[in-house]
Amino acid sequence: MLKHHDKIERNSIILLILTVVVISIGGLVEIAPLFRLETTIEKVEGMRPYTPLELAGAKIYKREGCYGCHSQQVRVLRDEVERYGHYSIASESMYDYPFQWGSKRTGPDLARIGAKYSDEWHTRHLINPRDVVPESIMPGYKFLTENDAKIAGIADDMEVLRKIGVPYTDEMIQNGVSDAVIQASTERDAEKLFQRYGKKVNVRDFDGNPQRVSEMDALVSYLQMLGTLVDFTKFEPLTIKEFNDLKTKIDNEQQQKIIENKNAK
Ligand code: HEC
Repeated sequence: MLKHHDKIERNSIILLILTVVVISIGGLVEIAPLFRLETTIEKVEGMRPYTPLELAGAKIYKREGCYGCHSQQVRVLRDEVERYGHYSIASESMYDYPFQWGSKRTGPDLARIGAKYSDEWHTRHLINPRDVVPESIMPGYKFLTENDAKIAGIADDMEVLRKIGVPYTDEMIQNGVSDAVIQASTERDAEKLFQRYGKKVNVRDFDGNPQRVSEMDALVSYLQMLGTLVDFTKFEPLTIKEFNDLKTKIDNEQQQKIIENKNAK
C-alpha cells in the first residue's frame, strides 16, 4: 500500500479521484442517516413548542451569541451526567431552529439550567455576573432590563416555524402577543395559556419589574424552561431490538404509502 502511495501523490489526477471517493464516503456516512431522522427522534412525554415569550428569549439568546460560550448538550459521559443531569436526547432540541448544541464551553452547559436558580438570581447574574459569582468572566447584559421584548412580531416567527415543522396551532399564533404578555405577569388570567402549552409553563414576572415585558423577562423565561420539559422519570431509552423494530415499522409504512400512491394513479 505504502509503495502505491508514492504513485498517488505524484499523479494529481489519481489523487483527485481518490480524494473525491474518500470524501464521498465520509459525506454519505454523515448525510444518509439524516434521511431517516424520524427513527432518531424518540417520542417522549412533555416536549412542546416554546411559548411566545420563551421564543422571544431564544431569539435574544441567539442575538447576544450566548452559544459562543455555552453549549446546550449534555453528552453521554459520566462526568457530564453527574454534573448536569440526564444526557440530552434528540427530541429535546427538535423545536430549535437552529439547534443550540454549541461547540464551546467557556461557561457551563445550559441544557438543564431551568429551575436550577431563582429568577432573581438569573436577573442579577445577567445584569452583572460578578454580583453573584465573584470570579465570573461572563459579560453583563444590563440593557436587557431596559429594552422592551420585541413581541409584536412574534406571531410571524411562529408562522415561519410552523412552516418548517413546529406544531403551532392557529390559536397559538393568533394569541402569540397576548400569551407573551400574560406569561410575564402575575395578575392576568393564564388559564388559556396553560391550555395551549400545558400546566408546567412558568407564569411569573421574571425580571421583578411588573411595569413592562422586558428582554430580561423573555430571556429568563427561556432559561428557566431549558431542560425541564421532558419528564425523565418516564423516559426509557430504546433497546437495540426496539429501535430495529421501529425502523422496520417505519420502512414498511413508507413502502405501503408508495404502493398506495402508485395504485391511486
Ligand atoms: C464570554 C463568555 C460568555 C458569554 C458570551 C456568556 N456567558 Fe454565561 N457564563 C460564562 C461563564 C464563564 C460562566 C460561569 C461563571 C458564572 O456563573 O458567571 C457563565 C455562567 C452562566 C450561567 C450560570 C450557569 C450555571 O450553571 O451556574 C448562565 C445561566 C449563563 N451563563 C447564561 C448566559 C446567557 C443567557 C448568555 C447570553 C446573554 C451568556 N451566558 C453569555 C461565560 C459566558
